[in-house]
Amino acid sequence: MINLKINDHQVSVAEGTTVLDAAKKLGLNIPTLCNHKDLCVAGNCRVCVVEMVGARTLIASCAMPASEGMEIYTNSLKVRNARKHIVELLLSEHRADCRKCYKNQNCELQTLANEFPFGEHIFLDLAENRPYKIDRSSPSFIKDDSKCIRCQRCVRKCAELQHVSAIAVANKGGHQKISSFHDRPMSAVVCTNCGQCVNRCPTGALTEKTYID
Ligand code: SF4
Ligand code: SF4
Ligand code: FES
Repeated sequence: MINLKINDHQVSVAEGTTVLDAAKKLGLNIPTLCNHKDLCVAGNCRVCVVEMVGARTLIASCAMPASEGMEIYTNSLKVRNARKHIVELLLSEHRADCRKCYKNQNCELQTLANEFPFGEHIFLDLAENRPYKIDRSSPSFIKDDSKCIRCQRCVRKCAELQHVSAIAVANKGGHQKISSFHDRPMSAVVCTNCGQCVNRCPTGALTEKTYID
């Protein structure tokens, strides 16, 4: 067993347990977005950052295995400020018209954003000027890139559990997006309409189509 301290509480976990899961064992909640219990670790959203004594930078708790003697703080001022900035950054690239969004009140990003007292935005609102694509071609779901936080849960789900890989990550940096083969409409690729990606999407980027009037 590995022994570590989280927020000054001692905890013992099996080797290979992440800091995130060790914190859960103590009943401590660390927010996550890209992490999902069904999927491999991606470590790309960074909202799960925590402070590790002796480390120069904050660490992603979902991607860091617990180690002997580790001392972690999950809710220090440094952590809270970093988390707030990360969420603000995500929102700056996000068309956050929550009142009109299918996922309103059922959105992991919205829930997280509501935890922080946002005032003046420190990042430019980039969503307004981006040519986002909304793909309604699939008979089963709508893919709205303006709501995507690029957590890649959908990509991992499609590849790891369904073994289809109808969607993948395209481009880099600010141009990164979730795309299909040659950016074709979802109706023109190997998507099997299983809906598992929709089920794992934390925002309104992938939503089920409804045929009810
Ligand atoms: S995806 Fe979530 S945060 Fe974004 S507009 Fe919809 S409800 Fe709001
Ligand atoms: S479509 Fe949804 S699950 Fe896929 S990367 Fe975007 S936000 Fe994440
Ligand atoms: S939940 Fe840990 S990096 Fe996204």
